[in-house]
Amino acid sequence: MSIQFDSQNRSFTLHTRSTTYQMQVDQPGHLQHLYYGRRLAEGDRMDAQVLPVNCGFSPVPYGCNADYDFSLDLLPQEYSGCNTGDFRVSCLSVSDAAGAAGADFLYVRHEICAGKYQVDGLPCAYDSGGEVETLVITLADPVTGLELQLSYGVFAARDVITRQARLVNRSERPMTLGKAASACLDLPYGQWDLIHFHGRHCMERQMERTSLTQAVQTISSRRGASSHHHNPFVILCDHQATEDAGDCYGMMLVYSGSHRTDIELEQSGGVRAVTGLHDELFSWHLAPGEVFDTPEVLLSFTHEGLTRLSQQYHAFLRHNICRGAWQFARRPILINNWEATYFQFDADKIVDIAAKAAELGVEMLVLDDGWFGKRDDDFTGLGDWFVNENKLPGGLNPLIERIHRLGMRFGLWVEPEMVSEDSELYRAHPDWALTLPGRKPTLGRNQLVLDLARPEVVDYLYDLLSGLLRRHRIDYIKWDMNRNMTDVYSRALPPERQGEASHRYMLGLYRLLGRLTAEFPQVLIEGCAGGGGRFDAGMLAYCPQIWCSDDTDAVERLIIQHGTSFGYPISAVGAHVSACPNHQTGRTTPLGTRAVVAMSGTFGYELDLNKLSASEVRAVCYQIEDFKRWYHLIQDGLYYRLTGVDGDFTAWQTVSPDRSEALVSVVVTHPRANAPLVHFRLKGLDPEGTYRIAVQRFLGTTNLPSPGEAGGDAPPARRWSGAALMYGGYTLPRISGDFPSVQLHLVRI
Ligand code: DGJ
Repeated sequence: MSIQFDSQNRSFTLHTRSTTYQMQVDQPGHLQHLYYGRRLAEGDRMDAQVLPVNCGFSPVPYGCNADYDFSLDLLPQEYSGCNTGDFRVSCLSVSDAAGAAGADFLYVRHEICAGKYQVDGLPCAYDSGGEVETLVITLADPVTGLELQLSYGVFAARDVITRQARLVNRSERPMTLGKAASACLDLPYGQWDLIHFHGRHCMERQMERTSLTQAVQTISSRRGASSHHHNPFVILCDHQATEDAGDCYGMMLVYSGSHRTDIELEQSGGVRAVTGLHDELFSWHLAPGEVFDTPEVLLSFTHEGLTRLSQQYHAFLRHNICRGAWQFARRPILINNWEATYFQFDADKIVDIAAKAAELGVEMLVLDDGWFGKRDDDFTGLGDWFVNENKLPGGLNPLIERIHRLGMRFGLWVEPEMVSEDSELYRAHPDWALTLPGRKPTLGRNQLVLDLARPEVVDYLYDLLSGLLRRHRIDYIKWDMNRNMTDVYSRALPPERQGEASHRYMLGLYRLLGRLTAEFPQVLIEGCAGGGGRFDAGMLAYCPQIWCSDDTDAVERLIIQHGTSFGYPISAVGAHVSACPNHQTGRTTPLGTRAVVAMSGTFGYELDLNKLSASEVRAVCYQIEDFKRWYHLIQDGLYYRLTGVDGDFTAWQTVSPDRSEALVSVVVTHPRANAPLVHFRLKGLDPEGTYRIAVQRFLGTTNLPSPGEAGGDAPPARRWSGAALMYGGYTLPRISGDFPSVQLHLVRI
């Protein structure tokens, strides 16, 4: 049993393989948090570390007057109430029909059962191996009749505990939620750093590590999307934590809309982290009997440092969030025409690009934006999902047949959530767009957002997309979303429910994706939002891969993919080799280096391969062969960051689960004269195993031969123990050139 209830002292203990989570119902009935961390011994109870102590100006609940030290403002809690004596960042704000704001949740009952709870209408983790247990603790506020159900899913083997909160109006009168967080994590002791992943379009998920300051730090998005700007994933790690050691907590929200995580360093030195929906422009009218479900949070802890925490999330997302036919299957290597043609193409041009790619081993052609409506630029056409016959005479099917005849699969770009003002759809249904009464709407990329809070819009999109998939042999969909939400107002909702529009939009989106993935499980969907503007666990429940960034520059991608790797597995990271000079930065990097970086993702090409020289074409053949050969090592292996991204080179590694193979990738980002040699320590090998280097490729170097050139593939004949490579490390011969890279494939003998 991974969940235990001790009825004598009303405590709950949740054990995973290496962690323990503990809470206790206190005398008045509040659910106090006792402990989350390294696994405890059976029978340990951590109530002795959480002592009531008065700090002054700490409110005491009525009836506890005798115990002057007892204050909800100071005690660690599982889910704080509202307006009843806890001044820290709250989980909830609620007001009743009379406008009185207040909730004080007291224990009512609990239930422990096998399997994983599900959340109505929202993506959440599932039990893939029959070993998950669920705990549901019901609390209630006796005055308002608001019930709180806290669910915990214990994934013992993965060291992950999921949390979710459900609010139920058990009264006879309506009430209004102004905030409803998913979870609160109170850590009473320790010196913590915050790690989060910030960015912008074309530079998503840059890792930032800061000490906590005596303030509230907020990681959030108000954009109606999880956003390029702040990913809904944070780590709290101890000050000394490194990649290889130290206490680390992760909180990852399974949600793709506006979100907010507050981290507060308290007066007593403890830390409170509260995560969930963003509360700005949010309110939820809860009529008698109605239920509100918050998005799920994935908590994970390790005392073994940041790499281990990442590996826990990678495994969890792959096994317990991603699903469907493509969850573990080898995904096709694709060629996408976007950066090759933008809007200017016709069927012959696409076939021309596809034919060359097929010749070199590429397995799927993805037709990007511009194939529909009057879409010759980004001012028109969104919403008109019928074929542009000027570009594709006879429709999609003749093109799809030509692509299939090349032995390739066919993929198609869509952006279903949007509408152009200049479109037949908008002219027919102007009220289907999010716009504020009496105001001209704000445009983003010249387009408006469809109101997916309206069920008829979701039904319309479902009919349209399912029709498209039924009428054509489409193997893959790129699901794009190119602006954020403004003018959030749904013409289908009454005034008291306007605060629900943004979350109802997300529920509509998830319903749409859920219906489509259920009906077309064989279609691979790649998520996208102007690159990685919606790269989150919510989308991963429908799309096992997500376009990581519109920035395809290999050197910039090192930073973006490094940050992404803290929470998300390589199998989720959409990455392509594109043309140089790079279209986003103007930088020129070697073709080999571009491939090394894209191989730490789903791998594909986004350029016209017909324009390459003969030696570049040969190199592409090598890349494709390598990627196919190493696919399972890269995608199923354990991922190690060997360096950060601030030095002169960046190195990373994947190791097969049985440690018999490893692939090391290195990119020199700052070539220097007389540079110190590139030296790094490998990780995760079998210390007693003997390894040989089966492949050593120098790519884009000016002093050493690259593949295809004489001697380019000759690895050193020596053997090393895993211990030597991990404790002593490996040194590369001096390499020169602009952004050269190296790949080492090691095999245990
Ligand atoms: C943004 C995407 O991220 C790009 O890859 C491309 O599909 C464009 N949209 C097309 O408009």
